[in-house]
Amino acid sequence: MEYWSNGVVGSEIRSQHAITPTPQFPEEENVKVDLDHRLKYLAVATLAATCMLPISPASAQSQKARVGLMLPYTGTYAQLGTAITNGFKLAVAERGGKLGGRELEYFTVDDEAEPAKAPENTNKLVQRDKVDVLVGTVHSGVQMGMVKIAKENNTLLIIPNAGLDAATGALCSPNIFRTSFSNWQPSYPMGKVLADRGIKNVVSLAWKYGAGEEAVAGFTEGFIKAGGKSVRGLWIPFPNVEFQALLTEIASIKPDAVFVFFAGGGAAKFIKDYNAAGLRKTIPLFGSGFLTDGVLDATEEPAQGLETTLHYADGLNSKRDREFRTAYSKAYTYAPDVYAVQGYDTALLLSAGLDAVKGDISKRKELIAAMEKAKIDSPRGAWTMSKAHNPIQDIYLRKVVGRENKFVNIAHKALADPARGCKL
Ligand code: BEZ
Repeated sequence: MEYWSNGVVGSEIRSQHAITPTPQFPEEENVKVDLDHRLKYLAVATLAATCMLPISPASAQSQKARVGLMLPYTGTYAQLGTAITNGFKLAVAERGGKLGGRELEYFTVDDEAEPAKAPENTNKLVQRDKVDVLVGTVHSGVQMGMVKIAKENNTLLIIPNAGLDAATGALCSPNIFRTSFSNWQPSYPMGKVLADRGIKNVVSLAWKYGAGEEAVAGFTEGFIKAGGKSVRGLWIPFPNVEFQALLTEIASIKPDAVFVFFAGGGAAKFIKDYNAAGLRKTIPLFGSGFLTDGVLDATEEPAQGLETTLHYADGLNSKRDREFRTAYSKAYTYAPDVYAVQGYDTALLLSAGLDAVKGDISKRKELIAAMEKAKIDSPRGAWTMSKAHNPIQDIYLRKVVGRENKFVNIAHKALADPARGCKL
């Protein structure tokens, strides 16, 4: 009874997004898709009720694998969602459009980086579209909603960005994998970098939501452990970008340095405002690499010299990375960033699982086992999965030179998230 006519529904209701230089997913498209879905579901439900014909395992495998992309395509994190989608589709295209011998059918939802809409949006893909695998998302608050629903429904979920510590910590689960980072991971090594430079008193500033709080906690842990003295926390609600009052406060506190968590459009604005406030020359600014990744075309001079830590860098100079960058730039006409790499690696991980079961997603145990032991040959450098399903990876210190986050050195080799509370 596992093979009732879901596959028939999918092949009729949604077309595949081709790779385009700048994929656009306007809000109207989702509205239209919703209507299309409802009409076609009515027709298919009638057909299914009349026929009730089971689909054999063999024919299920010959159908397309249903991939639900739930990412932000509008708002502050829109560029991140697009880069992840681009990276994912590039890896699939490099495999002839198939993973584990199966073509993919994409179902796309714009989550708008809006946590309140996460349950409804996730259910569109899980309940309505009956996807085989969920890929998402970027924002940790939205991720919390996705994780809960993926756990309740035992849906395979691959997280291509959001760092929500609990996803591979207290809420870890056999069906949940992450190809990006935990929020703790890229920030923790920056603590030691600053302490080793003799910096004692830091002001942190971040968006007040899970990712900002966990990034600051990771940084503080590393900083105090390595000899730093104090971290005073300043906060601003997400996705607010009115930084002026906070910059005035930083100027009056006069810390040795500032550590921030911002990303996407908000990060670009912060870099420019920090410079315009005259702080760049007097109080050095640091951050996890989301501050400067994917924003350097927009920030230019004010970003020059900024140092950050992240699991990707420009100028890694490996053959693997060079090939990836050439292919990505050719496909999309602009250079890749960390988000593109994470999307690419998400498809590599899914490919490792599907190859092992020759595309038969119903062989869940074998699929998961293969994903757990996969060694991902990533542009960022090869990485493996921790027991909690989070990458064990090198964290790089980078410095902005021109439009690049230039590799400086390895800030922490093969860093594994502590996975606090994970019982896997
Ligand atoms: C997060 O919400 O987890 C996140 C968003 C953007 C960049 C990094 C982390």
